Amino acid sequence: MKKRIVIILIVFVLLGLIMGLLIKCDVPAHSEREGDDIKARVNRMVSRMTLEEKVGQMTQITLSHLLEQTDSGVKQPFRLDTTRLKEAIVDYNVGSILNNGGHANSRKKWHKMISTIQQMATEETRLGIPVLYGIDAIHGANYTQDATMFPQQIAQAATWNRDLVRQAASVTAYEMRASGIPWNFSPVLGLGRQPAWPRFWETFGEDVHLTATLGRSMVKGYQGDRLNSDSTKVAACMKHYMGYSVPRTGKDRTPAWIPERQLRQYFLPPFKEAVKAGVQTAMVNSGEVNGIPAHASDFLLKDLLRGEVDFNGLVVSDWMDIRYLHTRHRIAATQKQAVQKAINAGVDMSMVPDNYRFADYLVELVEEGKVSEQRINEAVKRILRIKMQLGLFEQPVSEPGDYPKFASREFSRLNLQFAEQAITLLKNKGQTLPLNPQATVLVTGPTANSMTALNGGWSYTWQGQQTDRFMESHNTILEALRQKMGRERVLYARGSGFDQPIQGNRPTRLAREADHIILCLGENAYCETPGNINDLYLPEAQKDLALRMAQTGKPVTLVLVEGRPRLISKFEPRMDAVVMGYLPGNRGGDAIANVLYGDVNPSGKLPFTYPRYPNSLETYDHKYTSTDGPQHGRGYNPQYPFGHGLSYTTFQYSDIHLSDSTMAEDGRIDVEVEVTNTGNRAGKKTVMMFLRDHYASVTPSVRKLKAYQKISLEAGQSKRIQFQIRPADLMFVGAHNRWVREEGKFSVIIADRRAAFVFNQSQS
Ligand code: BGC
Repeated sequence: MKKRIVIILIVFVLLGLIMGLLIKCDVPAHSEREGDDIKARVNRMVSRMTLEEKVGQMTQITLSHLLEQTDSGVKQPFRLDTTRLKEAIVDYNVGSILNNGGHANSRKKWHKMISTIQQMATEETRLGIPVLYGIDAIHGANYTQDATMFPQQIAQAATWNRDLVRQAASVTAYEMRASGIPWNFSPVLGLGRQPAWPRFWETFGEDVHLTATLGRSMVKGYQGDRLNSDSTKVAACMKHYMGYSVPRTGKDRTPAWIPERQLRQYFLPPFKEAVKAGVQTAMVNSGEVNGIPAHASDFLLKDLLRGEVDFNGLVVSDWMDIRYLHTRHRIAATQKQAVQKAINAGVDMSMVPDNYRFADYLVELVEEGKVSEQRINEAVKRILRIKMQLGLFEQPVSEPGDYPKFASREFSRLNLQFAEQAITLLKNKGQTLPLNPQATVLVTGPTANSMTALNGGWSYTWQGQQTDRFMESHNTILEALRQKMGRERVLYARGSGFDQPIQGNRPTRLAREADHIILCLGENAYCETPGNINDLYLPEAQKDLALRMAQTGKPVTLVLVEGRPRLISKFEPRMDAVVMGYLPGNRGGDAIANVLYGDVNPSGKLPFTYPRYPNSLETYDHKYTSTDGPQHGRGYNPQYPFGHGLSYTTFQYSDIHLSDSTMAEDGRIDVEVEVTNTGNRAGKKTVMMFLRDHYASVTPSVRKLKAYQKISLEAGQSKRIQFQIRPADLMFVGAHNRWVREEGKFSVIIADRRAAFVFNQSQS
């Protein structure tokens, strides 16, 4: 008996050793193991799900639909209607809920509401799958009171500072999680090449390289290097894939016509870069490109996104956009057919957002064999995977106590620094700025005393019109100036409205008492279609105010707070200084005041071309035939060029040094330039490297941004900056819509310096 026990024990020990050895030989890395683990869990779960449960996961409902209503139909902020919630979660198994029901609220209220939702999802459904809650926290946790509200994306781009973009995104993720929300519909990776478009300010501007690099930083800030159940990170959503940002008319959600060559050369790379950075989700463009709505485009969603870009994450529709394939775009004769087209093209989740017909139709379509169950499984796996990566199964709602830094001073300081680096000095005639601290100033204009204008849309509400109510604790431009210089030195007259003419002559009267006029013009908050305009010029009322102020003979500094470059050419020559504030967020007023008085040396650079005329909307990377010439009256004659931005100090560049004058197929050229601060105060400089292809089989652009670096220099200090050029940087999308490179001469352009080299493939 004893002998038998010993033998059995030996066998066990040996087996153990062998197993140990086997495992040791094949131990996957931590992340692989985790990935495999998630994959196995997802597969197991999908195999247990009914068809109804699966299409439920693919359904996204807006919060408003789940709120209590008064008899007259008014929705009660953040008060969930239990019957409606049960219908969504228990009857339909919805996978996702979005938005804020039209109201911002405290962190506590968010937490309570999301806990109720998650409790029902995890305890009252058969499989206990948590809900994926998503919002548009595009410049901070925008629906939570007191959250840190950063500059909008266009202003972030003006900093040309990847680190700041990443840090701010990581604060946003932290404050979202502090509110219980794990999914952010951000970043916008469309290019701002249509200045009239009301979502221009949601972009990183017109350039493909700037957008791709800042987009990468933003994704990393939201998600970290990997999501990995980190409860301070959220899933990012690159949007709007693709071609949404350049509607021909400039009006939101109207058709875009983008030749495939441009699609590939300009519009696709930022999305590709985000995928490389690990972005987990994507949202589809609401519009049509070349006659095909993106939501039903096999080319965009299958061939490019899944095929070429190799994106394997979750694709969510935009608002009601599957239904719109029928009702707006008219490519589907029925709503059911619209569902069939979108799901078969590759949309994984429908932002329905206010009924369950999508789910009903999809069940029918599968039963009729018009959508395969395999396609459904693929979509559901992507949805479950994200939920697992976010750690929602283990912790469906985060612990509020785990976020002590929410709305902290530290975050507010970062916010101020971010806004300060965005503010761009566009004109400074005779060193009008910085202002003399002894001077008395008149502050006037519709953006002077408005937190709403400083923040723009997607702030507390969709249209951002209630910001003043929420933001008493922050300074408008006027308040910041008064706090800084004392009330007695800062006079104020509202001047005109955004659109309403000046009432009375108070501004002119006060101007006589002042030494200097700070004229704050621009736009009020808007977003999407309500922000459509018919005229890119600033409204007449504001132009009149500007001319009236100029007539007083006092020096005028124009401060622009606006989401797109509204034309100012009718009065700009009469302005002594021009400061671009963009939409600088909650610390924007302080940042502008600091720049006006020289406590901060401005370092922002335009991330777009500021046009001068409505019929001359050209980007900096235009073709040679677009160059201006009085004899031609051609397109490119901007008010201020891309990359423009002055400083209170001066910089000088050395000649550019290239490591070689030729580059071979597998070669590389090192570029070096020395920058010196030749003025008498410290300053920041963004060194931008452009490439010019002299001759090519597809007409070349005059120049293209290839690299940039923002540096700080003390007065008198010099720094050597290095860039590299590789053959990949010389490529363009050729006549057959494929990336090619061609031999020939190229110039490196850095500020006013040039250096040339030759690309010669055959050279060894
Ligand atoms: C916008 C999206 C946004 C979505 C959800 C849509 O109207 O186009 O950018 O993410 O609403 O709020």
